[in-house]
Amino acid sequence: MSYNNSHDLCSNLNTEQDSEFTQLMDKAVARRSFLAGMGALGLGAFVATTPLAQSVQAAMKTTVHSKLMGFQPIAASTADTVVVPEGYKVSNLISWGDPIFAGAPEFDASGKAPASSQALQFGDNTDGMTLFPLADDRAVMAVNNEYTNNDLLFDHKGENMTADDVLKAQNAHGVSVFEIKKTSKGWSVDRSGKLNRRITANTPMQLTGPAAGHDLLKTSADANGIEVLGTFNNCANGETPWGTYLTCEENFHNYFGTADDSYEVPAEQKRYGIKPEDKRYKWSKFDERFDLAKNPNEPNRHGWVVEIDPMNPESKPLKRTALGRFKHENAALMVDNSGHVVVYLGDDERGEHLYKFVSKGKYDAANKSANRNLLEEGTLYVAKFSANEGELKGKGEWIELTFGKNGLTPENGFNSQAEVLIHTRLAATQVGGTTMDRPEWVAVHPNKMSACCTLTNNKNRGKKDNQPVTGPNPRAGNKYGQIVRWTPANGDHTVTEFDWDLFVIAGNPSVHKEGLLAGSSNVTAENMFNSPDGLGFDKGGRLWIMTDGKYSNKDDFAGMGNNQMLCADPETGEIHRFLVGPIACEVTGLTFTPDQKTMFVGIQHPGEKGKPSHFPAGGDSKPRSTIVMITREDGGVIGA
Ligand code: FEO
Ligand code: CA
Ligand code: CA
Ligand code: CA
Repeated sequence: MSYNNSHDLCSNLNTEQDSEFTQLMDKAVARRSFLAGMGALGLGAFVATTPLAQSVQAAMKTTVHSKLMGFQPIAASTADTVVVPEGYKVSNLISWGDPIFAGAPEFDASGKAPASSQALQFGDNTDGMTLFPLADDRAVMAVNNEYTNNDLLFDHKGENMTADDVLKAQNAHGVSVFEIKKTSKGWSVDRSGKLNRRITANTPMQLTGPAAGHDLLKTSADANGIEVLGTFNNCANGETPWGTYLTCEENFHNYFGTADDSYEVPAEQKRYGIKPEDKRYKWSKFDERFDLAKNPNEPNRHGWVVEIDPMNPESKPLKRTALGRFKHENAALMVDNSGHVVVYLGDDERGEHLYKFVSKGKYDAANKSANRNLLEEGTLYVAKFSANEGELKGKGEWIELTFGKNGLTPENGFNSQAEVLIHTRLAATQVGGTTMDRPEWVAVHPNKMSACCTLTNNKNRGKKDNQPVTGPNPRAGNKYGQIVRWTPANGDHTVTEFDWDLFVIAGNPSVHKEGLLAGSSNVTAENMFNSPDGLGFDKGGRLWIMTDGKYSNKDDFAGMGNNQMLCADPETGEIHRFLVGPIACEVTGLTFTPDQKTMFVGIQHPGEKGKPSHFPAGGDSKPRSTIVMITREDGGVIGA
């Protein structure tokens, strides 16, 4: 999510504090990385004893104090519930299987309900979402339903799939669109809302932009390469100032397979993880569209960003090929001061890349509908970071992914812009984009001066030749993750140069007393976390960080508890824990009412893989992915 589209936001910038903190961080981090080369013991001795290190910690705790965050930070938790600060309340909006249409069947916990029921209910695994206001007491929510927990969806736990089961799983994927209304009791789903809609893995949609109609997008069912059925593995999201929702197709590779032993997966598809085995979802056995031997091009029709008009339930979702094809995490869209629309995009896989799209056309604030095709045409770039040896900040450039430039030529296997976009990952490698520690969400600060991306973790870092330990990916076998921040020159997001630093390096200072595993100096025993994933700024400039990490609460992760949500002050660097989720969940998905007095947070897969959660209903109930609502007892702004 992002709230960077408005032009009237207050930035709450405190430049003096910012530079004070940055200088301290620079010194601490440079010193740490310098000493890292001398061995961990040396660094430990440094952190424990040197006056400089002590002064950095003292500065964090005394002279730097956030004016942005007003809540009492909470402790880590392993409880099977959502924990929030004193003075805050939690309630549930909707859970997997709840009806979103009047007269639709209620949730059936037996796992025996048919596909037709799921088609009328909220899908599984709530993820990215955006609230679109209709009135003070009415809004429409668009929410991704990322994937299915087959052990919960089916009584047979996915072991004895039938054609109807495959359809049921397809109906549990996609996007749920539904109206919510506010009464004296708070917000609730309006099952009679005129805009209510389920978009599933079978909803007709259209490929648009430079790759539409290319031979690689043609299938037996669609000789023109234009019409696609459905969207699935919709991870995070974005929204546009012209009122549309962006849903991002992530791990699409898991849905394809074939029983045909003679089928060879082409190298271009191997790069995207396509394999003949179809162990997880088993769709290809009952739906030929997912059989690679029968429809070898079908995977090329997925891995895109899809634009949806939530105000028109009859509208056809549009797959925007100009934004490239990869395992999209979110789409952080902002209108640059130049008027061009800039969309930052992460490709969440170990050693993949960070991207930026700049629209050809300019945003017209006076004529909303004139902006409808801004995502149709533009330039895609991949990020290349550089740093001096051992430094945790540096320079970077955006390298253009345009046919005919930077080696994207027929000699290197690229014959058109369509091929560059369909094989975006290969193009990024060709031009030398930096391999990253799994880029997840990007968020742009409302003052437009900087942007951040969560690099969630990467066990391959330092173990593969193309993933060296350097720059914004400074730890081998990175188990905790970090957040990289970049500032384009003059706040102009269309230019190709930027400066970068690491806003936070997650770590465990209780277990690791020294070195980068202890985390940056804004990580403490009180706020530690691992695997930052969801990310978003609110209007006030608070940075919200959601985690999708290890919840074992032991060894390297001791003291971190369940997955959580933190709030950070980008100016002071302070990070406070705001929310902890129930057992074995991921916290992902964030949106607010315009007054920021209700926050909607996604609790995804509580109790995954048989872990003992009964969230949200308790007792011995089946765990269900749920959107929760956070409000303040005094009715104030969340986080303030
Ligand atoms: Fe669906 Fe990368 O998280
Ligand atoms: Ca994610
Ligand atoms: Ca993740
Ligand atoms: Ca997830």
